[in-house]
Amino acid sequence: MPAIDTDAPLLFFDSGIGGLSVLQAVRKSLPTAPIVYAADYAGLPYGTKSEAEIMARVPALLGRLVERYRPRLVTIACNTACTIALSHVRAALDVPVVGTVPAIKPAAESTRTGVIGLLGTAATIRQAYVDRLQTAHAPGMTLLRHAAPELVHAAESKLRGEAPDPSIFSRAMQGLTLLPDGDRLDVTALGCTHFPLVQDELSAACPRMRFVDGSAGIARRIRYLTAGQEWPAESSEGVFVTTGSLADVEGLQTALHSYGLTQIKSL
Ligand code: DGL
Repeated sequence: MPAIDTDAPLLFFDSGIGGLSVLQAVRKSLPTAPIVYAADYAGLPYGTKSEAEIMARVPALLGRLVERYRPRLVTIACNTACTIALSHVRAALDVPVVGTVPAIKPAAESTRTGVIGLLGTAATIRQAYVDRLQTAHAPGMTLLRHAAPELVHAAESKLRGEAPDPSIFSRAMQGLTLLPDGDRLDVTALGCTHFPLVQDELSAACPRMRFVDGSAGIARRIRYLTAGQEWPAESSEGVFVTTGSLADVEGLQTALHSYGLTQIKSL
């Protein structure tokens, strides 16, 4: 195995800014890691797309990104892309790929009632991948699923400094709690990376709920997979690259800077 270049970045990928919730956890554990964050704004939202559209789009796009940025590792910080296309991306790339899948395991480990919730995109919650996570990690438990596409847009506008309508958050929570057995629901997995960015608003809408997401587990996994590799002594300016136009991401500049992403480019 050739030695990894000290400056080789970690590449994060999502349809929009959702992956920042994952990046934040990774930055804490690897503070000087060079970062490239790619957002597929030309394809946002993923959650309303078909499986065929995601399959056709994500592996090809990641192929281009890997060729351009030569990352040491790729993190697909998007549950929708992973539950549909993770194995295809892994087969297509010759770098390690870390996926983000709904945090059903930590939810199952922390429920007291045996009723757990999953908030995700419409495309994610219907995947057989989610059935398999339930069988493997929450056998005998009840998993309530609800698609909350409005939360994707709410998170996008929050990071643009706009105040999203609070009824969006109560609607999302009621989508779970009003289902049969919803009164016993005590833990909800945020199965879309956009959702931890509006966790405070979701908590305000449903104070009794505990929320879990996969970001801490992903940070641990990246640390494990890069153990022994060299990192720069100091952190560098992170790169944010969008598949859309730069004008579309103008309003995100302040938020991106707060995550260390100061070089903003179009792919
Ligand atoms: N952030 C993405 C996820 O984790 C999807 C948002 C979207 O594009 O619909 O599923």
